[in-house]
Amino acid sequence: MARTPVILDVDTGIDDAFALLFAVRHPDLELLGVTCVDGNTNVDQVVANTLKVLDAAGAGNIPVSRGAVRPLLGQSHYAEYVHGADGMGDLDGPASYRRVDQRGAVELLRDLIESSATPVALVPLAPLTNIALFLRSFPETAKKLQGIVLMGGSASAGNATPAAEFNIWHDPEAAAIVFQSGVPITMYGLDVFMRPGISAAEAERLQGSSDPAAVFAGSLISAFIERIGSPVTLGDAGAVMAVVAPELISFQNFDVVVDTSAGPARGQTICDRRPRLELEIEPLRLADSANVRVALDMDVEAIRQLWLETIDSHWN
Ligand code: BDR
Ligand code: CA
Repeated sequence: MARTPVILDVDTGIDDAFALLFAVRHPDLELLGVTCVDGNTNVDQVVANTLKVLDAAGAGNIPVSRGAVRPLLGQSHYAEYVHGADGMGDLDGPASYRRVDQRGAVELLRDLIESSATPVALVPLAPLTNIALFLRSFPETAKKLQGIVLMGGSASAGNATPAAEFNIWHDPEAAAIVFQSGVPITMYGLDVFMRPGISAAEAERLQGSSDPAAVFAGSLISAFIERIGSPVTLGDAGAVMAVVAPELISFQNFDVVVDTSAGPARGQTICDRRPRLELEIEPLRLADSANVRVALDMDVEAIRQLWLETIDSHWN
């Protein structure tokens, strides 16, 4: 079977690291490149963290580019309280000797999508600033995408605020551009994000593996457990797993719009979950059609095993 070409847009990030390792390792995926954006931490630190993860995965040849340094409007809000001072668990270890790609994120996205023989799945795991800039810069190239499978949003509660999930809340205007773009969108949000977790015992087992990527993942998880507690969610990695194993996840299509007001709902992904009734006068809709495929449930154990088996070649 031909591999699915993917590009990840990241703010690495502990769970972005889990996603990167999975994308490098899964045999049905071809990771074409990685674009970095301001999010969990500043973009230069995101680049450094991303290169470190790809080195650990033995994937030093994958192009990594530096993207937006702040949201389209408003200020950055970093998440050191979750991801540590360096944005990735404060693990020791050597910095990568690799250089970042000379192209900016938007240009790298264009080049990789244009030169791919088969349509690319774009997987943003971070605020959508780079993706909005790309859509505005190269709309014709965006039409060639297979789709966008993003970690972000929620059909229920938020995490950054009561209403909004962090990635959307960090740059709501960018998210609104992406959700209105017409590119097929899958939203892997907070309704499923926290569900697949890795325990302290599993992290220890990964650390004892002879596979360097597994050891790296195990160390990240153990460090996180020491700081915050267990289990650790696979988080962003779930969105990449939704590309290779959608049968393990239940989806429903909804009209979704992003709240860009200055009020308490700023950054909320408002999902129209009302039942469709055959009424003479149609109720007001948010969008013209149910425009987003929203992940609502999953086979948690199967997802967990898929990640563990992919990261550690000796897991079974
Ligand atoms: C999202 O925000 C980041 O902290 C995580 O990496 C994930 O992408 C969760 O709200
Ligand atoms: Ca992230």
